[in-house]
Amino acid sequence: MTQTAEKTDLAQIGVVGLAVMGSNLARNFARNGNTVAVYNRSPEKTRALISEHGDEGAFIPSETVEDFVASLERPRKAIIMVQAGAATDAVINQLTEAMDEGDIIIDGGNALFTDTIRREKEVAAKGRHFVGAGISGGEEGALNGPSIMPGGPAESWETLGPILESIAAEVDGTPCVTHIGPDGAGHFVKMVHNGIEYADMQVIGEAYQLLRYGAGMEPAEIAEVFREWNAGDLDSYLIEITAEVLAQTDPDTGAPLVDVIVDAAGQKGTGRWTAINGLDLGVPITGIAESVFARALSSATAQRAAAQEGQLPSGTITELNVDKAEFVEDVRRALYAAKLIAYSQGFDEIKAGSDEFGWNVDPRDLATIWRGGCIIRAKFLDRIREAYDNDADLPALILDPYFKGELENLIDPWRRVVVAATQLGLPVPVFASSLSYYDSLRAERLPAALIQGQRDFFGAHTFKRVDREGTFHIEWSGDRSLTEM
Ligand code: 6PG
Repeated sequence: MTQTAEKTDLAQIGVVGLAVMGSNLARNFARNGNTVAVYNRSPEKTRALISEHGDEGAFIPSETVEDFVASLERPRKAIIMVQAGAATDAVINQLTEAMDEGDIIIDGGNALFTDTIRREKEVAAKGRHFVGAGISGGEEGALNGPSIMPGGPAESWETLGPILESIAAEVDGTPCVTHIGPDGAGHFVKMVHNGIEYADMQVIGEAYQLLRYGAGMEPAEIAEVFREWNAGDLDSYLIEITAEVLAQTDPDTGAPLVDVIVDAAGQKGTGRWTAINGLDLGVPITGIAESVFARALSSATAQRAAAQEGQLPSGTITELNVDKAEFVEDVRRALYAAKLIAYSQGFDEIKAGSDEFGWNVDPRDLATIWRGGCIIRAKFLDRIREAYDNDADLPALILDPYFKGELENLIDPWRRVVVAATQLGLPVPVFASSLSYYDSLRAERLPAALIQGQRDFFGAHTFKRVDREGTFHIEWSGDRSLTEM
């Protein structure tokens, strides 16, 4: 069936916003047996979708929001795939007006979860349902099977679940979609997914940097290393595409593509949100935050140029004096360790967010639906799932017995790599800060005791004692006696 679908054949689902993500998602729904209503503000995109892909399934194109809404089966379900922000609010208002009680509006963009909480309240006040759904997998995932993280009312999931399951990626017969929790829970976990994505990409970048400028390897050779790594513990989409990118030559010059790309990383904001939220919740998501800062630093081109011109002193730089194969293996292990920390911290943030907002998010759900479709899909998510199966209240992912065992084998190479990077003068912000995080967690005593002393000194901020209950203060400017507050 194509656009010739009769208007009496109502659509099971609608998609508003037909840029690449929206149109791929619409095609995915249609290819999986759903009749799909499609609408875009400028009708050219709708017409292009129908003329290029109308034969892939049943589409009902509309050129007005009213026609679009009228072409949907009740309760109506429409996914908005427009740019996050004001455009989303505008479409939500239009749909809310045109829809009826019980209809479901789904925002599939990368919305900030606090916006989603607000929107859900506004839409619910008008008797419609609002579902903020994180969708991961990029353009290819949208077309062939994304990982989907819907929040919103559990009741909406009843109707929406089977349709989303029909298009999601599948791993071992399990669709990569489940109801995450109420209101903003879906967009919250998608935000943290992206934060982990940033950290994962950064640690891969640090490994590349060490092999390239520490071990003196060429991109094509490093591509092979990543290909091998992808056959082991690091098996993941991001490692796989890294090998592809490094093996690619520039069609114009024949040089390695990575050498002709400007080294200033962009960002659309989800990693930054994850870092800000980590600060708000007081969760040390250091790997994620460092990777956001690393992108910012890379893009501070004027400052970097000035620093290069002014030739900041490097100190003594030593050449790498270990066997190359051993160094490569050490780097692999350091990458694995830093990646583990990023996931562990990301899951901490999800727990903290879930507690704060009362969402009851089950970490096992995420470990399950992130195994396929999404950008951070990785083999070791199975292990994460097992970890939470064994202990739902695990204090930190890295404290799971399996991961503790892995860390036994990773810790020494990780330390060696951070030392080597320091001696080589190569930046490894996430390798190094993750190691400090790890050592901080392990430390019997932290300098926080001294900080508390300083705070008490200059601001009478008081402190607790290790040997008895209570709150104390020293009369610093007087006789230095101890007062119990
Ligand atoms: C995904 C991606 C996707 C997108 C982000 C990150 O899960 O499919 O995370 O949402 O790539 O927008 O992009 P930036 O790197 O530009 O922030």
